[in-house]
Amino acid sequence: MNNFWAAPDAAEYTRALSGHFNALTPENQMKPDSLQPRRDTFQFGPADRFVAFAKEHRMAVHGHTLVWHQQNPDWLEGASWTRPELISALSNHVTTIVAHFKEDIALWDVVNEAMGDNGKFRDSFWKKSLGDDNHDGIPDYIDLAFRFARQADRDCILVYNDYGAEHSGAKADAILKMTRELKRGGTPIDAVGFQFHIKGLRFDFDDFRKNARRFTSAGLKVFITEADFAIPPPVTPEKLAAQSKLCGEMVRAARAISGCAGVFWWGVTDRHSWLNMPEFVKGGADGLLFDREYTPKPCYRAVQEALR
Ligand code: XIL
Repeated sequence: MNNFWAAPDAAEYTRALSGHFNALTPENQMKPDSLQPRRDTFQFGPADRFVAFAKEHRMAVHGHTLVWHQQNPDWLEGASWTRPELISALSNHVTTIVAHFKEDIALWDVVNEAMGDNGKFRDSFWKKSLGDDNHDGIPDYIDLAFRFARQADRDCILVYNDYGAEHSGAKADAILKMTRELKRGGTPIDAVGFQFHIKGLRFDFDDFRKNARRFTSAGLKVFITEADFAIPPPVTPEKLAAQSKLCGEMVRAARAISGCAGVFWWGVTDRHSWLNMPEFVKGGADGLLFDREYTPKPCYRAVQEALR
């Protein structure tokens, strides 16, 4: 959640977060509009506070996200740029941030959601502005973002993150092709993140394992980066049981894939979840391990079991 330390239930939130997790992802505070709200003026306060909390509680930090088509500041998308200027702005954004967090963040989502569901690159600001000058079929900003991130931190794990590529299909195929080609061309990409925002309480984990292994065979690590399993209302014991089964299976699948290096949830408690926001509520909510009263749900126990 955003700036949890200022929430009325900060004490409960803090207890749940530090008591049950060994890593955290700031939900919005490391996105482009948060970290560089004005051109060349970086605002690290809230993000630093997440990092300080993580350090205090010996948790790892997953940085999210350097380049995306959403939550961009107006100065970026509102201006007209020459190609060299925009490449320089991209470099400045990525290297300043990665360098700032170098000691504390070992895992960055470098590019988020560049692919459309149809397996064609999303027509984002970045794609439209920088194009594909080397005609390798991959928008240039992707390679550039990874190279800039690597320049700023030699050791950080650099991730391409997306949704809807957990299962096989056009999108997963296209992302696999892209990551293979990027690697072949020398782009410093280390991993693929599967977001795992799953709707409808159904998911085929055999398919996921097969799909994920295609990526690990290509020499990439994989992560589950933003898991939640939305329950279409109303919440019933049967649906909680179905959710629990899926959460347990996800963690078991992750453990069975050598090269799967971590599982992250998109929140702690159903009280504070993006799935409660009117624009995202379609398909249900209550997708996390703790309910709205901070009580561990059946899925919490299932995950505990799967981790034994
Ligand atoms: C969401 C946040 O949870 C919301 O608070 C915000 O309004 C919009 O973004 N995929 C991602 C995340 O990579 O950054 C998104 O986070 C959820 C989907």
